[in-house]
Order: sequence, then C-alpha cells, then structure tokens
Amino acid sequence: MRVFVTGASGFIGSAVVPELITTGHRVLGLARSETSAKALAAAGAEVLRGDLNDPAGLRAGAAETEGVIHLGFIHDFDNFEASIRTDARAIETMGGVLAGSGRPLVFASGVVGLVPGQVATEEVPFDPKAHPRAANAVVALGLAERGVRVSAVRLAPTVHGPGDHGFVKRLVDIARDKGVSGYIGEGRNRWPAVHRLDAGHLFRLALEKAPAGGVVHGVADEGVPTRTIAEIIGRKLGLPAASIAPEAAGAHFGWLGRFFAMDQPASSALTRQRMGWNPTHPGLVADLEAGHYTG
Ligand SMILES: NC(=O)c1ccc[n+]([C@@H]2O[C@H](COP(=O)([O-])OP(=O)(O)OC[C@H]3O[C@@H](n4cnc5c(N)ncnc54)[C@H](OP(=O)(O)O)[C@@H]3O)[C@@H](O)[C@H]2O)c1
Repeated sequence: MRVFVTGASGFIGSAVVPELITTGHRVLGLARSETSAKALAAAGAEVLRGDLNDPAGLRAGAAETEGVIHLGFIHDFDNFEASIRTDARAIETMGGVLAGSGRPLVFASGVVGLVPGQVATEEVPFDPKAHPRAANAVVALGLAERGVRVSAVRLAPTVHGPGDHGFVKRLVDIARDKGVSGYIGEGRNRWPAVHRLDAGHLFRLALEKAPAGGVVHGVADEGVPTRTIAEIIGRKLGLPAASIAPEAAGAHFGWLGRFFAMDQPASSALTRQRMGWNPTHPGLVADLEAGHYTG
C-alpha cells in the first residue's frame, strides 16, 4: 500500500515509517520543515511538504494514497484547545477524502481516562465528555458510517525507548530539577507502557487489518506502579525517591501531576488475539534500568 503518514517524523512516526517500508509498503510522509523532510527522505519515504493546519495538503496526501496513518499532533499544552481544533479539522479533512472508499484511516489516541481505577479493555468506549481528544476520537470513529475503514490505536500514556521526549523524560527532568524523584501519595497507581517499536508494529497491523470502527490497544505493560518508576529514576540519578502529597503534586510536577496521579491500567489481550500483535521489545522497567533516560 502507498500510505500517507502525518507525524511521520515524530517519535512514534519514526518507528512506523521503517515498519511500513520494511514490510513492503510505500510511505508519503507529511513534513512541515526542511529538517523533517530530510529525516523522512533518509528513512526512505516520499515527502509531502505541508502542515496540519493546511487542509489542502492533507487532502492531497489522503487523495493520492491508499490509506492514512494519522500521528501528527501539536503538543502545545499551553494552547491545547487550538491543538484539539486542528486535530478535529485534520481528521474531518482526511476522512472526507476517504469517505465511501473503504480505505483505512488509523489514528493515534490514548487509554488515559477511560475507566480510572479499572483495567481498560478495547471494549470500553470513548467518553466524549471525558477529554477533548476523546471527543475527536468519537467523531473520527464515526467515519466508519461513511465508508472509511477507520480505527483507533489507543496508546499507553508512556510510549518509551531511546529518544523519548514524553512523560517519562519529563519525570526525569523534574527529579533532576527538584533533587528528589517523586511519586504521588503511596505511588500505587499504575501507568501502562509500550515500547515505541512495538507501537510502530501495531500501527502497521491496524492499517492492514483493523475493521471499520475498530479500537486496538498499544499497551504492553498493563500498569507499572508509579512508585516503581520513581524509585528506578531516583536510583539511576543517585537521588532519593519520595512521596509527594496529592495536594502538592501540581507544585512539584506542574501539568504532569494530573497525569502522574492517575490510576489507569489497560489491557491489550483482545488486540493481541485479534491483530496477532505480540510485543517483543523491552518493557518500561527494563528501559529505565538500561539507562536510556538517565545516562
Ligand atoms: N509518545 C507518547 O508517549 C504518546 C502516548 C500516547 C499518545 N501519543 C500520540 O501519538 C501521536 C504521535 O506521538 P509522538 O510521540 O510521535 O509525537 P511527537 O514526537 O511530538 O511528533 C509529533 C509529530 O507531529 C508533527 N507535527 C507537529 N505539529 C505539526 C504541524 N503543525 N504540522 C505538521 N506536522 C506537525 C511533528 O512534526 P515535526 O517533526 O516537524 O515536529 C511530528 O512529526 C500523537 O497523536 C500523540 O499525542 C503519544
């Protein structure tokens, strides 16, 4: 398949692109800068210069390919509403092109906030009121009714591996800054995780065989206690690990405090069974122990 990939130059996109190419697909990657364009070309992809805020480019990319993987997202937490609006427009634009074609549109989403305190399975529906991105996901999955083989890859909040610049990297930075590696309360709340390369593999499988309206879980570790994460980071940095009172979490962790306080284990049993996905790369604990984040 010739596949249009938004966010192809990102942390996960740079795993998805080689996964597609080495399995015989061709990639047309969206790049908004010369640097991203060069990285994509070096990875063997064709490049479409454009921006998530430019519908014409998205329309062209979706029109001239046989399927879309949508990973691009503006991670600007200070201007999150604008990011959500851009994402909604991008999904509508590309979905409109694919309507009636039966072609696949796979988009990245998350397991956070689905059923706090319980193990989230693939059968748990998105609650559009829970989070603006969940609302976008509901609209996106609705494209199934318009003849798009749309599917959601709900990722663990931590997609990890060398080069990660997400939540765990931020935790390490905060620990360095504060001189203590914190966890909230007793730190028994759990964070699911998946290695970036296993996530890349799952996006390819979803492209090839997820049904219209399907939801799969990019989750390898069902839930690592946050205290375990903090203790390994502390040991690796030579800093103490310590409990942070829930009421002090905002001051200590900033915007990350809200996420790090969540207990959101998630299962991928149905994904493994239905997609034949079998994560093989190191888990979060092994990756932390390997020192990628603290070396
Ligand atoms: N990483 C995780 O732990 C995690 C967990 C759950 C869900 N997700 C979701 O998975 C998806 C991919 O995440 P990621 O970690 O790979 O993100 P990332 O490393 O931040 O990459 C974001 C991608 O979006 C592109 N992009 C940003 N703004 C753009 C714009 N205005 N126009 C065009 N492209 C733009 C970036 O291009 P440049 O290279 O040019 O900057 C990059 O390719 C996102 O939807 C993310 O929210 C990630």
